[in-house]
Amino acid sequence: MIPTPHIELKDPSLIAKTVLMPGDPLRAKYIADNFLTHVVQINNVRNMWGFTGYFGKKKVTVMGSGMGMPSIGIYSYELFKFYGVENIIRIGSCGSYTKDLNLYDVVLVKDAYSESSYAKTMGVSSRKVLPSSKTLDNRILKAGAKLGYDIHVATVHSSDVFYRLKHEEFKEIHAKYGADAVEMESFALFANAKALNKKAACLLTVSDSLVTHEATSAQERQEAFTKMMEIALNSI
Ligand code: HPA
Repeated sequence: MIPTPHIELKDPSLIAKTVLMPGDPLRAKYIADNFLTHVVQINNVRNMWGFTGYFGKKKVTVMGSGMGMPSIGIYSYELFKFYGVENIIRIGSCGSYTKDLNLYDVVLVKDAYSESSYAKTMGVSSRKVLPSSKTLDNRILKAGAKLGYDIHVATVHSSDVFYRLKHEEFKEIHAKYGADAVEMESFALFANAKALNKKAACLLTVSDSLVTHEATSAQERQEAFTKMMEIALNSI
């Protein structure tokens, strides 16, 4: 089924076994421009840019996932199922549900809690909590330690809704499921990995706090994201 409906590439050998997925395709381009050599563009459909290049001697692909579970669900499924990808590491942003996580902290997701029907509808699991790959997590933690960066390991809430009317509900989710932060993609990524017997992990940078209402500027986010990109690239 190559090319797939959402990835135009005809030659799967141009995609690496490990893919880094930021939500924003511009960020995928930023990583390719600043960290990779011998870069080739592997997707342009819907401007969901993807690039394959080398980080040192390691071949790696970076591609945008878009925002939300349906979007990352489509791209990660096609990469895993049709392009021979074995590992996907999402690199994104999250909102903090606790005073213990500050702006710019780097979070490694060990479990994703979600009220989403994604895994159930797919037919892979009726659980509300899905785990990351511990093999990938261990590599990421080792890379972080080597670089001297702190990484907080946490359960996160994968939410379908960014603009909730009942804003304070996050306190219940934090208390009941132990979710320390919120983002919108991990649960679907982990469900696809489980469905296809592949590996997935997720590294996040705290971009805002639901507790203190602090937020970061676009420029500050870009700089903070560099840390997370370095960790992910060095974990490969
Ligand atoms: N909600 C959902 N996703 C997010 C947030 C948030 O507050 N911040 C960054 N990603």
